[in-house]
Amino acid sequence: MSKLVHAQWSSKMTFVLAAAGSAVGLGNIWRFSYMVGDNGGAAFVLVYLACVAVVGLPVLVAEWLIGRRGQKNPINAMAELAGKNAQPKAWALVGASGVLAAFLILSFYSVIGGWSLSYTLGSVTGTFTGQDADGVGAIFEGLLGSPGLLLLWHTAFMALVVWIVARGVTKGLEGAVRTMMPALVVLMVVLVGYGMTTGHFGEALAFMFRPDWGALSGDVVLAAMGQAFFTLSLGMGIMMAYGSYLGEDVNLLGTARTVIILDTGIALLAGLAIFPIVFANGLSAGEGPGLIFVTLPLAFGNMTGGMLLGLMFFLLLTFAALTSAISLLEPVVEFVEERTPLTRVMATLVSAVAVWLLGIAALMSFNVWPEPVMFGLNVFDLLDTFTSKILLPLTGLGAIVFVAWCLDRRSVAAELNLTGGSEQVWLVVARYVAPLGVILVFVNSLLG
Ligand code: PHE
Ligand code: NA
Repeated sequence: MSKLVHAQWSSKMTFVLAAAGSAVGLGNIWRFSYMVGDNGGAAFVLVYLACVAVVGLPVLVAEWLIGRRGQKNPINAMAELAGKNAQPKAWALVGASGVLAAFLILSFYSVIGGWSLSYTLGSVTGTFTGQDADGVGAIFEGLLGSPGLLLLWHTAFMALVVWIVARGVTKGLEGAVRTMMPALVVLMVVLVGYGMTTGHFGEALAFMFRPDWGALSGDVVLAAMGQAFFTLSLGMGIMMAYGSYLGEDVNLLGTARTVIILDTGIALLAGLAIFPIVFANGLSAGEGPGLIFVTLPLAFGNMTGGMLLGLMFFLLLTFAALTSAISLLEPVVEFVEERTPLTRVMATLVSAVAVWLLGIAALMSFNVWPEPVMFGLNVFDLLDTFTSKILLPLTGLGAIVFVAWCLDRRSVAAELNLTGGSEQVWLVVARYVAPLGVILVFVNSLLG
């Protein structure tokens, strides 16, 4: 098997923590809940869960496998593994579209990371204490309406990302992930507990899990699939790059299951925390990207010890967003580093500035530049939609097709420890169900 160019992860645990650090972020709490609300609830949730299991799991495994065999950055890895076998250029294109996706996503991710930073400070200063729904809404509107404030927080968030990457302390973050991740889970459970006291928990449960299949459309299914890719950090070459550090002894399927259960669990807890507050306060579930920022402060502002809990929550959310953002910046930096004579530090700065500039266009969507620029979408929505609904699924499709169809199927089965029946299941899912699923979702949503 491939010789190891990189140093390997010191232990399996380190790898799981790094992968979880990338996966768990704003996508689980901010994006999941607002997508559920925007797309009508349970039907979206159930399709999302199906996408995670049937498409997300095989694509995650495929990305790690490519990375572990390729031992290089994703673009070269796929081109090289393809060998004389098949169009190296085509596979390199898949890698390049992943880098583009990471770049585009980080630009708006940083804007929301900035909101989280701002709410961390707001919790310390007691801004939310005793507020009602109108008060909390007004605070959020105040933030959105000020391009200057949004720019300040977006800049602060990107600066933190660059600072961490430049100091090279990303390795040290894994220790922090180990303590912060469980703390985040505990806090989410506390918030779900608060949701139970609102008297609207049953309503939230029904909203999330009792589907009205009539609400299902091609676009809802595409949104659910996009969320599955986004939340698992798939389709960007990020998991591929991580895979290149993996030792031969790590069980890919088992590790993927662990990461997926953690990521999905946190998202579902977020929904169960947020929707009771929505219904108890007569808010709109389809509030959009502001949903967690107009619901959770209500809980913190009105529960015992809420100020401290609110501070802890937004700190942990910011931290989770930072570890994801760092993993998003990495492929961009590597790309710049490889194609230019720039040093690592300069490549980091140049990438970050480019991301920051695009982020400014994104944050203007909330105030001075709300007009649609393409397909009836403003810059923010366009960045989010184009990446999650198109780029990520297409790149992920490339990864799974590559592993299932281009690599030797015996060696892949051996690498995944699959024999007999389980090998058959893998083959059917990886060759047909997952790729056709992605293609069907595309076609279906194109047809409306
Ligand atoms: N998965 C992260 C989240 O859920 C976001 C992310 C996407 C991080 C893509 C890295 C790459 O917040
Ligand atoms: Na996630």
